[in-house]
Order: sequence, then structure tokens, then C-alpha cells
Amino acid sequence: MNILVTGAAGFIGSNFVRMLVGRGEQAKIVALDKLTYAGNLANLQDLMKDPRLTFLRGDICDEQFIAKLFKEHRITHVVHFAAESHVDRSILSSGPFIQTNVVGTQVLLDAAKANSVERYLQVSTDEVYGTLPEDQPDVKFTEETPLAPNSPYSASKAAGDCLVRSYFHTFHMPVLITRCSNNYGPYHFPEKLIPLFVTNLMEGKKVPLYGDGLNVRDWLYVEDHCDAIWTVLKKGKPGEVYNIGGNNELTNRRITEVVLREMGKDWDTSVQYVKDRPGHDRRYAIDAGKIKQELGWEPRHRFEEAIKTTIAWYKAHEDWWRAIKSGEYLKYYQAQYAGR
Ligand code: NAD
Ligand code: DAU
Repeated sequence: MNILVTGAAGFIGSNFVRMLVGRGEQAKIVALDKLTYAGNLANLQDLMKDPRLTFLRGDICDEQFIAKLFKEHRITHVVHFAAESHVDRSILSSGPFIQTNVVGTQVLLDAAKANSVERYLQVSTDEVYGTLPEDQPDVKFTEETPLAPNSPYSASKAAGDCLVRSYFHTFHMPVLITRCSNNYGPYHFPEKLIPLFVTNLMEGKKVPLYGDGLNVRDWLYVEDHCDAIWTVLKKGKPGEVYNIGGNNELTNRRITEVVLREMGKDWDTSVQYVKDRPGHDRRYAIDAGKIKQELGWEPRHRFEEAIKTTIAWYKAHEDWWRAIKSGEYLKYYQAQYAGR
């Protein structure tokens, strides 16, 4: 197997490469990343000496570069993580999201088609389904839930998913789509809720909680997500969508309470309620019954332990996140949070 992993220097992509290398999978791994603000070679540094791994810096939107890469490395499998991934940034400026998440996906699909790859897996998100009612806890997203994206980010991911679907129906390409809930764990970029809150508290700053803090997300440890993707790549049925989730719905207030407890901080001096995210989806919840019944996958990590592991990782890797929380990051933080 010659596997192309796009977005390999990002949060989930780097955890996926780490899993493949750690498990000793007999695959040649081509790790591709543009190294945008979210991509970080430090995420892969300790793996670089592994003879199975080749890192390439490049843009998935660059047709010539991608065509050459597929030929030179005889790519047989694709796991496509690369994306602009942050909802708040898509509200500030949506152009890069359309370019990478839609055009980039089309470029990869065409290269995969031209090279008759054996498997192409699109890593997507539960956000493409939109939002769920708060007062009907039994209602969850299934693979049949209609797409109803509410942010420029989720709209661009839904467009990517539609392209992938079309390549199955029109060209009979062996594609798979996974739609996962919120991940947490090591190497998570500190603009997202959990790493932002943990690192702000370590810096002695307050944590900005949007709106009333009662929006609900389903949280899954990143290693479980990576394992699910590998399971779908190996055993999934082409043309199918698989939802992936942690069966772990929590309000943002609850997440905040847990993080404060683990960090030894109190609510009144540490939490600042700020103006809500425009168009903020109220609740996400995944029905992961299909992947469990058909492919035998379910999460292995419990939130109460894995959040401790995650916080311990940030405490042990101050150099990693302090290097990120400077320069461009500070400009973004100012644009995002000043005056809210
Ligand atoms: P991330 O922002 O941490 O990583 C994305 C990576 O893609 C970065 O390394 C970036 O440099 C790279 N990239 C961006 N544009 C590129 C381009 N044009 N060409 C090549 N590389 C490019 O994101 P993440 O949280 O690791 O998410 C990975 C994927 O998983 C995304 O597709 C996202 O939609 C999906 N997803 C994320 C979550 C989550 O909770 N983080 C949940 C479900 C699905
Ligand atoms: O559901 C899967 C999605 O999860 C992925 O597709 C996205 O790539 C990923 O970024 C994530 O999106 P969210 O918008 O849910 O994640 P984020 O960490 O930005 O926010 C989580 C919740 O916390 C959300 O309800 C908004 C809230 N929040 C977030 C930030 C950054 C705050 O209250 N304050 C904040 O400062």
C-alpha cells in the first residue's frame, strides 16, 4: 500500500501518521501538507527518520504538483484530511475554505481517478448536517440526515462531500466518506475550544465562553477517530458514508468546568462570557451505530481519563504551544476576541 495522507502536519493528520508508524503498518506513507498557519512540522518531527515516511510540502490545489506526486509515488490509497478547519476563521474570511476544501478536493479526486487508486477516503465532519434540537435528546445525526451546513466552513466541507459522492456515481470510484464529531487530544491547535482554554489558563488568562455556554458537542479522543478512519479505509464499502462519534455529548459549560477542575482554577476568576459566534450551531450528536454494526468499530477511550491525558500533554509540551501562540496567532486572537 502506498498511502497519501493530506494535511499530515495538522492535528488529526499527524495523529493518524503517528498511529500508522506506531502500529508498524506495512505501508509507504506520503505525508503531504501546505504548512498553513495550522500545519506544523514539529507534529511529525520524531517520526521523520522512519523509512516508511516521506514528507512533502505542497498545496492540494496545485494540479501539476499533485499529478506528479501520484505518479512518482504510485499512490494506491488516499486519506484526505487537508482542510481549512476552523469555523471562526471561516466567518472572518471564507475564500481559503472554498479554495482548499472544495477546489483542493476536486484536484485530489481527479488525480485519484487518473491513477485508478484502490481507495479514496474523505475525512468529513458532523457539521455538514447542521444543528439538532436541544429538547429532543434522542434525535441524532445518522448517515441519512440531509446535509444542512450553517457556516462557511461546513458549507465548504459539504460541497467537498458532494463532489466525492458524484465521483462514485459518475465514475464508480472506490470512495468512502467519514463524518466525525469534535476531536480532542495532543497536537490540537490552540485556537479550538479545549487547547485554547487549557493554554490560556496556563498563561494566567481568562477563557472566552461564547453565548450562554450551553451549546452541545459530542467529544471523541483523536486516537479513536484515527482508528475509525483506518477501519473504514480497510473494511468500508465504497460509496458509503460512515458517521464516527464518541457518544459523549457535553455542553461547553461542562467542558469548561472539567478543564477548570483539572487545572485547579475557579469559575469566577477564570471565565469570561463573550458575544456568541454568529450562526452558532446549538447541538451536534452522532449516531455511530452503522460503523459499529457493519465494521465493528467503537471508541476505546473514556472522556474522564482522556481529557486528563490531553491536559497533561499540554503541560508537558509548553514549547510546542508557546511557539504557536505568537506572531500570526496573536493577530488572529485580536481580530477574533477584541471587543466581544
Ligand atoms: P487542522 O487545521 O489541524 O489541519 C489541517 C491541515 O491541512 C494543516 O496541517 C494545514 O497546513 C493543511 N492544509 C490546509 N490547506 C492545505 C492545502 N491547500 N494543501 C495541503 N495542506 C493543506 O485540522 P484538523 O482538526 O486536523 O482536521 C483535519 C480534517 O478532519 C479536516 O478535514 C476537518 O474538516 C476534519 N474534521 C476535524 C474534526 C476536529 O474536531 N478537529 C472533526 C471532524 C472532522
Ligand atoms: O464537529 C466537528 C468540528 O469540530 C470540526 O469539523 C471542526 O474542524 C472543528 O474545529 C470543530 O468545530 P467546532 O466549531 O465545534 O470547534 P471549536 O473548538 O471551535 O468550538 C467548540 C465549541 O466551543 C463551539 O460550540 C464554540 C465554543 N467556543 C469555541 C471557542 C474557540 C467557545 O465557547 N469559545 C471559544 O473561544
